[in-house]
Amino acid sequence: MKHLGSASLLAISATFRTVVADVDWTTAYSKATTALGKLTNQEKIGIVTGTGWEKGPCVGNTSPVAKIGLPSLCLQDGPLGVRYAQNVSAFPAGIMAGSTWDVDLIRERGVAMGEEAKGLGIHVLLGPVSGPLGKNPRGGRNWEGFSNDPYLAGIAMAETIKGMQSAGVQANAKHYIGNEQEKFRGSATANIPDRVNHELYLWPFADAVKAGVASVMCSYNRVNGTYVCEHEGALEGVLKRELGFRGWVVSDWGAQHTTNGSAFAGLDMAMPGDGFGNNKYLWGESLATAVSSGEIPQSRLDDMVTRILASYYLVGQDKEYPSVQGWSSWNGGKGGPNVQGDHKKVARAIARDGIVLLKNEGNILPLKKPKSLAIVGSDAIVNPSGPNACVDRGCNIGTLAMGWGSGTAEFPYLVGPLDAIQAQAKLDNTTIVSSITDTPAEGATAAAAADTAIVFINSHAGEGYIVVEGSDGDRLTLSPAHNGNDLVRSVASSNPNTIVVIHSVGPLILEPILSFPSVKAIVWAGLPGQESGNGLADILYGKTSPSGKLPYTIARRDEDYGGDVKGGNGDDEYSEGLYVDYRYFDKRGIKPRFEFGFGLSYTTFTYSGLEITPSTLSPSIGLSSDLYDTIVTVTTAVTNNGTVAGAEAAQFYVSLPSSAPESPVRQLRGFKKVMLGVGESKTVKFDLRRKDLSYWDVVAQQWVMAKGEYTVWVGASSRDLRVSGVLRG
Ligand code: NOJ
Repeated sequence: MKHLGSASLLAISATFRTVVADVDWTTAYSKATTALGKLTNQEKIGIVTGTGWEKGPCVGNTSPVAKIGLPSLCLQDGPLGVRYAQNVSAFPAGIMAGSTWDVDLIRERGVAMGEEAKGLGIHVLLGPVSGPLGKNPRGGRNWEGFSNDPYLAGIAMAETIKGMQSAGVQANAKHYIGNEQEKFRGSATANIPDRVNHELYLWPFADAVKAGVASVMCSYNRVNGTYVCEHEGALEGVLKRELGFRGWVVSDWGAQHTTNGSAFAGLDMAMPGDGFGNNKYLWGESLATAVSSGEIPQSRLDDMVTRILASYYLVGQDKEYPSVQGWSSWNGGKGGPNVQGDHKKVARAIARDGIVLLKNEGNILPLKKPKSLAIVGSDAIVNPSGPNACVDRGCNIGTLAMGWGSGTAEFPYLVGPLDAIQAQAKLDNTTIVSSITDTPAEGATAAAAADTAIVFINSHAGEGYIVVEGSDGDRLTLSPAHNGNDLVRSVASSNPNTIVVIHSVGPLILEPILSFPSVKAIVWAGLPGQESGNGLADILYGKTSPSGKLPYTIARRDEDYGGDVKGGNGDDEYSEGLYVDYRYFDKRGIKPRFEFGFGLSYTTFTYSGLEITPSTLSPSIGLSSDLYDTIVTVTTAVTNNGTVAGAEAAQFYVSLPSSAPESPVRQLRGFKKVMLGVGESKTVKFDLRRKDLSYWDVVAQQWVMAKGEYTVWVGASSRDLRVSGVLRG
């Protein structure tokens, strides 16, 4: 297996630019205040009110004010690239970026998305996503975000935002907050307990604010009975006062419900302005009247505008920013420049390094120049009508490389798995036999004709305004689409060397597949975007060792998960509390099939030694330091003791002292991905911020560190903990 090496990973990383986010709100605010002084109320109203649905090139547009050089602001989806545009990249989805556990790749993806948005004159790219966080495995939009673990999601949010904003575009952290399912998203209430909110759902938004995010989108749903975009506690209270958010809050499209209520709550921009083309504006003239009559203080309108202008200055959009020319969302996105640059590199790196190898019996992978190979399943090829044939990717035809809805982009091209495998097969003199339908009998015939069979299955989901195969957003089932289990069964029954490749928006119950002894390998290929086939072939053929790890738990049974999409009217009491995903399995002692953080490699790693500095915390530290200050560092050595190079995502977990209120058994509070050559050893270091060791005290309304012993663990997954130690606090 000599061909297995780190070369391609290093080659790609070496070309990445180093970016440093330079967040200077003070200067931005002083410029904004100066500009504000030149504006009439009429002009201010035009900045805070969208022009109306489809009135302007972007999904959201504001009115320009020439005398301060302010253009019409262009707000455009979305979280995996620019929606409704041609000649842009369709990056791997958030969940795929999350499963790389690679902060450099995540940051670079953010830079690339920011560069493309800027190239098209977009001021605000509507992403990244950490709401939904993904507490319900069937939630339709979980794949837009990075992980259902708040720590992993929070780091990924911050890195993406820093990347995007360093390229000059304003990021938008969405959907704040409690939008955990699609069904009834416009009416249901998420009744989130305060501690649960702080330790889970709010956590990644707090990291987004800390990273200097320019804008936040309030979600469609209610929290504790009140619509989020009308909720003063959620917007003015938590987001702006507690977290210190200095940017602006925009409504999700149509999530505003009143003129005055939303203004008082802390909404700063209403989108799309009218009610999706009905020409009725809750702000606009109504807001002007409310301000002139004194119902809404002038200071609130000024605050809205100042926030929007400050964010514009923060990322330097007043300096030679391209304007939106010749390009519009509403004409197929044609006419704009080609902004892809060399972004296919980062797209491919994530499509490759986000792949999680779940099973690899007898080292069936990597493939070693097989004489013949059967490729089975409709997921192996690109939709014959073209990768963009379905509007907003609202179908599941051909290989699945993103979910559906507003969080999509047009593929500039899509490398299908079969295409990429065929290219390698040619070099290897491998005969390919294929059956690109999901018909079990046909799959069995193809599989019987080859040494090894690779069967492709998938599972789709998306945003609730499109219905795909009976699902209006949220997933109907945690079983594969198109009777995938039957397809695998028939392939496995006619070929003893069966490899299953799965493209999925989230976890699947794999018990049926694992029960077939011929299934020797399972490759969890996520939602890889345009470079799907290339990233997959890199792993299948061992050009790189797999290094992705699950950003959620794969259970043995549906009912093993704590949370689920709610029926009835969709109201959700969040009764699983803090116990989401692995926290629930740990608490209940449930054995997962593949635990959070799990992923195999073609090599093996050992962990040794654990140093905690300092190992005893001074009593004052719990309150005196900033929440984000590093107060402890933990180091351990990771060694590649296998036969090929590979990267390992080492994970740090902590158990709070027994004096803390009842808390999860262990929580992820650090991770580091390191590339290691054969025999190589590296020290990995985890910087623990005060926040990482605290719980939210609902009475004191602050983060508190409990007294006593913290057990700290470092390992390869949430259940494969290799070294541990004690920190005294
Ligand atoms: C509604 C979606 O929830 C949001 O994510 C998106 O940005 C807007 N529509 C605009 O398309």
